[in-house]
Amino acid sequence: MPHSTSDRPIALDLQNIHKSYGSLEVLKGVSLTAYDGDVISILGSSGSGKSTLLRCINLLEKPNQGTITLGGESLDLVPGKSGELEAANRGQLERFRARVGFVFQNFNLWPHKTILQNIIEGPTQVLKIGKDQAIREAEQLLKKVGLLDKKDAYPDNLSGGQRQRVAIARALAMNPQVLLFDEPTSALDPELVNEVLAVMRDLAAEGRTMLIVTHEMRFARDVSSQVVFLHQGRIEEAGTPEQIFDNPTSPRVREFMASHHADANKLS
Ligand SMILES: Nc1ncnc2c1ncn2[C@@H]1O[C@H](COP(=O)(O)OP(=O)(O)OP(=O)(O)O)[C@@H](O)[C@H]1O
Ligand SMILES: [Mg+2]
Repeated sequence: MPHSTSDRPIALDLQNIHKSYGSLEVLKGVSLTAYDGDVISILGSSGSGKSTLLRCINLLEKPNQGTITLGGESLDLVPGKSGELEAANRGQLERFRARVGFVFQNFNLWPHKTILQNIIEGPTQVLKIGKDQAIREAEQLLKKVGLLDKKDAYPDNLSGGQRQRVAIARALAMNPQVLLFDEPTSALDPELVNEVLAVMRDLAAEGRTMLIVTHEMRFARDVSSQVVFLHQGRIEEAGTPEQIFDNPTSPRVREFMASHHADANKLS
């Protein structure tokens, strides 16, 4: 299991991220550093700001304050009209987004493209990789997630677990510096959860840098180098899985863990 040490380069660094929706302050200054190979699980109750934090990383949501640094390059941000920060440079934002893989709860595959077309779209259109090479790489990735035989199928003809594995392959096809997962298994029927978690476990073992919002406690405990607990838009506690799961100091984290231990014990 990877552990955070400063001898590895920093993959992603967030400092003092603030985000408000009108008068509702959802993120109140969140800072987080992922070294290369780190797997950081983000836990917290509903509404604590987990999705908002992930979405601020690639400016799907515009933060009001803070800095975002990917592989040593900081995103140039300037204040916009409504008090939110905007990318100063569209080209830089596009490069950033290409280096941040995002896997959503609801897959977001293009329904009118085949599985293969879904995967090669980004590499060919954004990275300008030749189609033949993009197809070869896509086939490798489909093999890795166990779906090469589905390459000419359409998303509607796949199970939820298969669609989510395609979504992971699509994110990997961009060769991202960091992969973000927002509850990747929570829309799935229980019997399909493990096939997706197995793929994610492989990625963790390969040393992929990942930030994962999940309610799969056993999985988070097994794969994480660091666990971050968000509460009302702040990091309530962060540490190793052992610290956060077995010995949290915050009463709120203790309470959360107590109510989730039953889950952790029953899930593989
Ligand atoms: N576009 C938006 N406009 C207004 N409020 C929003 C918007 N998106 C999120 N919020 C609010 O921000 C808060 C944090 O939402 P967020 O989705 O980040 O929580 P979360 O931790 O991901 O919760 P969950 O576990 O339910 O997914 C919530 O109070 C939510 O209602
Ligand atoms: Mg969420």
